[in-house]
Amino acid sequence: MNIEEIINTPLETFIKAERYLNDGSRSKIRNSTSYDTSPMSDKYSFNLKVIEFENIIFEDFALEEGFFIPSNCIIIHPDLIENEIFNYCKYKLVNEITVMPTASGRTTFSIENNIFIKLAYLKILGRIPRHIPKEKIQSACEITRILKNIIDSGKTNSKFSILNEDKGRVAFLPQNDGYYELGVIFRDALPYPMKDEFHALIPFFSLFSKEYEPGSNWVPCKFQDDPLVIQLYKKQNRNVSIDDFVLDDIIKPLLNTYFDALIYGGIELEAHAQNMLIAIDNKFNILQIVCRDLESAGRDITLMQHFNLKYLDVAKNYKYILKTNIEVGEKYSIYQRTHSFMFDFKLGEYIITPLIECICEYNSGINKIEFEDKIKKYCDQFIKLLPEDFFPKEWCDYDDVVWDINKEKTYNWHENPKYRKS
Ligand SMILES: Nc1ncnc2c1ncn2[C@@H]1O[C@H](COP(=O)(O)OP(=O)(O)OP(=O)(O)O)[C@@H](O)[C@H]1O
Ligand SMILES: [Mg+2]
Repeated sequence: MNIEEIINTPLETFIKAERYLNDGSRSKIRNSTSYDTSPMSDKYSFNLKVIEFENIIFEDFALEEGFFIPSNCIIIHPDLIENEIFNYCKYKLVNEITVMPTASGRTTFSIENNIFIKLAYLKILGRIPRHIPKEKIQSACEITRILKNIIDSGKTNSKFSILNEDKGRVAFLPQNDGYYELGVIFRDALPYPMKDEFHALIPFFSLFSKEYEPGSNWVPCKFQDDPLVIQLYKKQNRNVSIDDFVLDDIIKPLLNTYFDALIYGGIELEAHAQNMLIAIDNKFNILQIVCRDLESAGRDITLMQHFNLKYLDVAKNYKYILKTNIEVGEKYSIYQRTHSFMFDFKLGEYIITPLIECICEYNSGINKIEFEDKIKKYCDQFIKLLPEDFFPKEWCDYDDVVWDINKEKTYNWHENPKYRKS
């Protein structure tokens, strides 16, 4: 994809990057929604279903009067029609909403309403089925509230931004043994805070991915432009090396954002390549690092207490993270493991490592070890501010498999974290 496309058609180009400028998750697990609705298909759009229920309880989260979904309705992905969760209620289809899929498959974009609609999806997407019970909506709202607060109070770095995710609805569908909580989350289309110079969003994965033929099931396009990060570098018109550009303009701002969320908000972002974006102006300057998928972030309650931060005691069964003791037979506590997993694996292996590989391929003269060392040194200033035992000595990842829900996940431990001092 030629980066120039983003100048005249910023939204269309963003969607194109979401769909086709994406090698997919580094795990290479590529399952998605049904063909016609999946991001890799060549169908421009598809329709979500608006379902009206009789005698069902709903709970709304910050939905104002006149919101585009009537009060006794919920929106579902078309693949969910006739699912057994609807067996015990009366419902009818009352409307459809035209959307385009994003890389995650179950999050879609409605041009008409200028909003992202994140849907429940009951089959496995990536490694897991994607339910949206009430607590996940509460968590997304609470994380948005905390991050907005630290932005508004001037604590965060000047490039810190988020896509607000503080609106939603859940329907309580009766089952023969209780209720199924069927939720939907609405995510703003534009970053908060909004900068006057804002022009477009670019997902992190598309900085270093190949371009694929629409509808081809992962056949790379014959002609490949340079990776977007290389094109972005060439557009800078500055006397700077590519490694300095990537370090100073991309990786350092990304790390500032990751640690600001943690230190000022007690929020542990799931900062992998699909959840992080950059915002650019129309001269290709990087304005902001944008965090999305706030529902997937963790609330580190122990860290919030350590820093004396205020939080609401909601959704205590979902990513409400507390310090734990080391379990018998384990080297590290679950609490430490989570910190390594999110920083070393998700941020490190999904974003930083492929970015480095991409620029090393472009310029074989880059000293990778030195580059990694600069990142380690940079991170040190933040890690010093965290409790001493926040990170484990080693780092962990897990195998590229779809987890059997009945089995415990197994983590692999490795010496010498790549992007922090051990
Ligand atoms: N380049 C990529 N890196 C990681 N995940 C990707 C990538 N491309 C597609 N995906 C898919 O995106 C999803 C990532 O999961 P995650 O929980 O972060 O997102 P989500 O909650 O489904 O949606 P959203 O990020 O819109 O909130 C998975 O289904 C994964 O297969
Ligand atoms: Mg995501």
